[in-house]
Amino acid sequence: MGAEIIYGKELAQELRLNMKQEVSKLKEQGIIPKLTVILIGEDPASKSYVKGKQKASDFVGVDADLIELPNETSEQTLLELIDKLNQDQTVNGILVQLPLPKHIEEQTIIEAIDPSKDVDGFHPISVGRMLTGKDTFLPCTPFGIITMLKSKDITIEGKHAVIVGRSNIVGKPVGQLLLNENATVTYCHSRTNNMDELIKMADILIVAVGKETFIHGDQIKEGAIVVDVGVNRNESGKLVGDVHFDSAKEKASYITPVPGGVGPMTITMLLHNTIQSAKSAHAKG
Ligand code: GUN
Repeated sequence: MGAEIIYGKELAQELRLNMKQEVSKLKEQGIIPKLTVILIGEDPASKSYVKGKQKASDFVGVDADLIELPNETSEQTLLELIDKLNQDQTVNGILVQLPLPKHIEEQTIIEAIDPSKDVDGFHPISVGRMLTGKDTFLPCTPFGIITMLKSKDITIEGKHAVIVGRSNIVGKPVGQLLLNENATVTYCHSRTNNMDELIKMADILIVAVGKETFIHGDQIKEGAIVVDVGVNRNESGKLVGDVHFDSAKEKASYITPVPGGVGPMTITMLLHNTIQSAKSAHAKG
């Protein structure tokens, strides 16, 4: 028996089609959702993500504005730009592509973004609201993961979810969202003593460490739901996840592939957040 594969790419396409219709209706009311993406420097992975965001925005009808700045841009210049965008009523979402060059303090930048335009869900106000289960912008990758699980009617409540990786972007918030859905949550990370034991206990296993074949099928429980957030290039340049797909597929009940799994969902949830932001800005007048 093999696992059912959760194709995020197909779900993303379906959601984007719905959003396209919604945006076209919003435009009739004069509401044009606008996302401004700031990209600093020449990181090839960041450039490729940003390209994906632009393409998806075009498809859905979200107005995407890309501001590219050189690697030497000062923190002050970036803060001034964010301030300008915070005040610009036509902008509904501000996304500063991470990672930033070392001379810029990431947290300072995140905290400068107006929480009402924080479509990444990284601002401490957004994070705090998520923690307390209040309505807010949810970080896009974790939001995409929950949406994928729900699309398959997978019960989260009561399950033991094990998260491997504790980044602010994925690991920590996905655990929180699963907790909000009444899962029992365990975090594993580089200092965890008995990681294999914990992984074996997972009903839902989320892997977000950024290391090829970090998890092999032998390590997982029969019937586990496996979500692979990794994006790595293997030695032949092929895109692979953190999970050894072929072996894990034999043990899991559901599994997400790489590519075509979580990745396309991240951008989709970003567009969702941008549209929500445009709607609330309009409602507030
Ligand atoms: N870099 C990698 N993932 C993300 C993301 O979701 N948002 C931003 N702003 N930068 C990223």
